Amino acid sequence: MNKNYHHKSVLTKESIENLITDKNGIYIDATFGGGGHSYAILNSLNKGAKLISLDQDKESVNMNCIKDKRLHLFHSNFIKIRNILNKKNIKKVSGILVDLGMSSYQLDNIERGFSNQSNCILDMRMNKESTYSAKNVINESSKEKLFFIFKEYGEFKNAKKISYKIIEARSKNKILFSSDLVNIFFIKGTFKKRKKFLSRLFQSIRIEVNDEINALKNFLVESSKILFPKGRIAVISYHSIEDRITKYFFKKGILKEKIFKPLPFRMIHKKVIKPSFQEIINNPRSRSARLRIAEKI
Ligand SMILES: C[S@@+](CC[C@H](N)C(=O)[O-])C[C@H]1O[C@@H](n2cnc3c(N)ncnc32)[C@H](O)[C@@H]1O
Repeated sequence: MNKNYHHKSVLTKESIENLITDKNGIYIDATFGGGGHSYAILNSLNKGAKLISLDQDKESVNMNCIKDKRLHLFHSNFIKIRNILNKKNIKKVSGILVDLGMSSYQLDNIERGFSNQSNCILDMRMNKESTYSAKNVINESSKEKLFFIFKEYGEFKNAKKISYKIIEARSKNKILFSSDLVNIFFIKGTFKKRKKFLSRLFQSIRIEVNDEINALKNFLVESSKILFPKGRIAVISYHSIEDRITKYFFKKGILKEKIFKPLPFRMIHKKVIKPSFQEIINNPRSRSARLRIAEKI
């Protein structure tokens, strides 16, 4: 693992302890990032086991590869998990971990354009090979699309007003940098209120750029097909939209306006697992993490 990589894995003990049911099994880490969870999974497995890890960010894959014969690391979106398993001639797996959102590397690397705190080019692509960036979202989306993004992904009550402000601003000048976007909005009130507004604004654009909601929904359905009965899935999410989708699918089989029958999963813990006070002190970025674990029926 790259020691300079500063992503601190979240809820590692809680997720790995609950995930591993067969130390000789095949596991998937769908969001490799800095490799911390993959490393912990490998440490819990026996010699003959296998770990398939993937990340849609090529830089993460290239920088953080772990030297271990049991690890098979791919640059891929997790929605293509079936293709990867086919390549490796694998039909079913014992466990799947998915740790959603961004890594600290992505967030802190100004060139990647995720941050609302430093002035950077509006990018936010996790997969740099994609041609759709935050710049396209902000400058080219129709007002209906912007409204949808801010309402659905930012959960803003004033999504219409936000969309209009962007359309008005971009009619004068292209919005290319995060500061251009931030300066459109004058938020009355405290520093905390402004920070919350900006992080939701940027989050909603990031979700759109990376098609995160559709990817999660499709991946959950795929997971239910590739897990052995009693195999487990652990999902770590960082905002209520992802957590809600996961919870309803695990609890009630509801996803994409459909009810999946028979119920694909059984929840292992009734309550969502949150980071401990100590973990939040050591890693403030973990504070919004929510872990849900389910077992394939
Ligand atoms: C929170 S980080 C994962 C950190 C990792 N668990 C660790 O311990 O270092 C999330 C990672 O998921 C990746 N990612 C997000 N959506 C993805 C998708 N649809 N397919 C593949 N990777 C994805 C991001 O590129 C990012 O590197």
